[in-house]
Amino acid sequence: MNKKLIKTVSLALIASLGFAMAGCAGETAETSAQGETAAAGEFTTVTPGVLTMATNAFFPPYEYYEGEQIVGIDAEIAQAVADKLGLELVIQDVEFDSIIAGVQSGMYDIGCAGMTVTEERMQSVNFTTTYATGIQSIIVVEGSDITDLDSLIDSGCMIGVQTGTTGDIYMTDEVGEDRMDRYNKGNDAVLALLNGTVGAVVIDNQPAQAFVAANEGLTILETPYTVEDYAMCVNKDNEALLAAINEALAELQADGTIDAIIETYIPSEEA
Ligand code: ARG
Repeated sequence: MNKKLIKTVSLALIASLGFAMAGCAGETAETSAQGETAAAGEFTTVTPGVLTMATNAFFPPYEYYEGEQIVGIDAEIAQAVADKLGLELVIQDVEFDSIIAGVQSGMYDIGCAGMTVTEERMQSVNFTTTYATGIQSIIVVEGSDITDLDSLIDSGCMIGVQTGTTGDIYMTDEVGEDRMDRYNKGNDAVLALLNGTVGAVVIDNQPAQAFVAANEGLTILETPYTVEDYAMCVNKDNEALLAAINEALAELQADGTIDAIIETYIPSEEA
């Protein structure tokens, strides 16, 4: 298990002063999937000549909509990989928790979605080399009694997450099903925080920063949590495609393309 929760030493701050506990309503998520199957070429792709990428495009700055177009770090890196492989990139926006199953069943060639490499996921799909890292962050409303991971756990509040993400998996482990409020989109979890349905949102640091910047009254706790590696996932039977993508990624890393793409979206920060 890729489970390295670094709990901060809680100073057991002031016990809550009858703080109206946010988030005591439950909600569950829906799932959906889409795709098609075929194969051809030196390495096979779902549709010949096309690299079909599944993502969940509500995860800035890795993938998000600019008008009708999906842009972001993952979209650009996948485009650069597709160019190297002589393939046309087609991006499909699906629920995050349907990506791995879709790659596994041959609907998509790759999942590229700020996806964390975990041992559990490695049982279902192969991962390419890592091209970025992420950290799980806790978002709360300004002035919240929740000041770190321990006080979040002790608070009894509902916790908002994106369904099937590492934030979901880790927090479910920490607090149990009953306190989890799962959303198909990270921003819907953030809306639930703004309207008091949940007391905190646990999500990757870069989208957390984007969501906090876009909404008044929210803040990210300075809590060291997990550090995770992002990679693309590929069908386990498609070793040739995995090798070709890894080669492309190595070249893009060596010539500075990946760094330049990340720098465009995350100026002078770790990514
Ligand atoms: N890094 C987290 C995970 O792999 C969250 C990824 C969510 N990605 C997205 N495109 N919505 O579980």
